[in-house]
Amino acid sequence: MKKIRQPIIAVLGHVDHGKTTLLDRIRRTNVAGKEAGGITQHIGATEVPIETVKQLAGPLIKLWKGEIKLPGLLFIDTPGHEAFTSLRARGGSLADLAVLIVDVNEGFQPQTIESIEILRKNRTPFIVAANKIDRIKGWKVEEDEPFLVNIKKQDQRAQQELETKLWELIGKFYEMGFNANRFDRVQDFTRELAIIPISAKYGIGVPELLVLIAGLSQKYLEEKLKIEVEGPARGTILEVREELGLGTTIDVIIYDGTLRKDDTIVVGGKDKAIVTKIRALLKPKPLDEIRDPRFRFDQVDEVAAAAGIKIAAPGLEEALAGSPVIAARSEEEVERAKAEILGQIQSVVISTGKVGVIVKADTLGSLEALSKELQEKSIPIRKADVGNISKTDVMEALSVKDEEPKYGVVLGFNVKVNEDAAEVAKAKGVPIFTGNIIYKLIEDYEAWVKAEEE
Ligand code: GTP
Ligand code: MG
Ligand code: NA
Repeated sequence: MKKIRQPIIAVLGHVDHGKTTLLDRIRRTNVAGKEAGGITQHIGATEVPIETVKQLAGPLIKLWKGEIKLPGLLFIDTPGHEAFTSLRARGGSLADLAVLIVDVNEGFQPQTIESIEILRKNRTPFIVAANKIDRIKGWKVEEDEPFLVNIKKQDQRAQQELETKLWELIGKFYEMGFNANRFDRVQDFTRELAIIPISAKYGIGVPELLVLIAGLSQKYLEEKLKIEVEGPARGTILEVREELGLGTTIDVIIYDGTLRKDDTIVVGGKDKAIVTKIRALLKPKPLDEIRDPRFRFDQVDEVAAAAGIKIAAPGLEEALAGSPVIAARSEEEVERAKAEILGQIQSVVISTGKVGVIVKADTLGSLEALSKELQEKSIPIRKADVGNISKTDVMEALSVKDEEPKYGVVLGFNVKVNEDAAEVAKAKGVPIFTGNIIYKLIEDYEAWVKAEEE
């Protein structure tokens, strides 16, 4: 039987531009207020039932022509801090549709651009929320009001200032190859990027934002969202976490099929596929944040896509965030899932033995992204693997150095350098480049090559 699942909506943008606050406003929670340093450091997930969307949209829902078929929206919160590129990329790659948040007073910032690059790479459709309009001088706040109602109450000067700021954004988008416009001036949503001015803090413009998210998802993504509900589940690991009384658990986004408690699951590990039986399926309540729940999770027997779910099972200690989860209901399905996951690991974890650089990263996803960038720049790779930089890595780079000095290096994304590795590297003069921004890491390496050649 086919049904339409909730679209997965990722919220992306520069640090502190208001992603978590927007979700807090929708959930009526205060997740942002409890974060260490006010910074999101994990991917979150929240299910918003369609009833809540209708309530928050208020009278605007009348604009909806035809039947609403979506059961709800599954929001993914991502960190905006520069250190969390791989989490942003993971959230972005899961999304059916994304909301790019830009603080209208700050405009484009580095992770705004990085978020756009992630969305472009994944061909993810998105809309833009121009946030914090309440900070415009003299702005009159009316909580939860539709933007088009609220704007009429503003004096000429505040309206003009918003216009100016929106034009600046539109200009920036134009430079990146997008035709953007205020949402109510958009003629064709398939060609123009819609910008919705909002205040996440006070809920202004949130009605329009929700109606647009739901409307665009149903109109343009309906085919993609139609899934065979009964089929075995497929998902992606968001986080691997230790939980009191449960041991190692995985937070997973299920994007296809149904996961049942008696299913066997096959999960990606560092260098193997882990096969295990589910001990418990724990589902956050609607409008609760999986990474910071207010309520106790429900123990469920099954869960259909799309959903955020915590899975407790033996043997998850070596599960790797970012890797796939595939449910299997027969020996044959287990074998097929194992082969698929191993294939994915092997396509990313490479060992060529050729003259080339050594690449290490924290997850398969970031390793893949870094390797791709290097390949695009025609920088050969000898070895690409997940994990910290070890002495073996340095020794391998040293053997390359003898043949081709510029490739005798180790590049590490979001990983540590083991102590003995650092010692050997220093003694033998093997450069190690580490960082948490892919393009910056490659730039550092290229700058070094250039300096060496001069
Ligand atoms: P990271 O996840 O760390 O990247 O940040 P974020 O994008 O989730 O931003 P967050 O929700 O943590 O908000 C950052 C700060 O901006 C907080 O102090 C919020 O209260 C504030 N803020 C967010 N939205 C608004 C808004 O619409 N108006 C005003 N005045 N402040 C806002
Ligand atoms: Mg946040
Ligand atoms: Na923040």
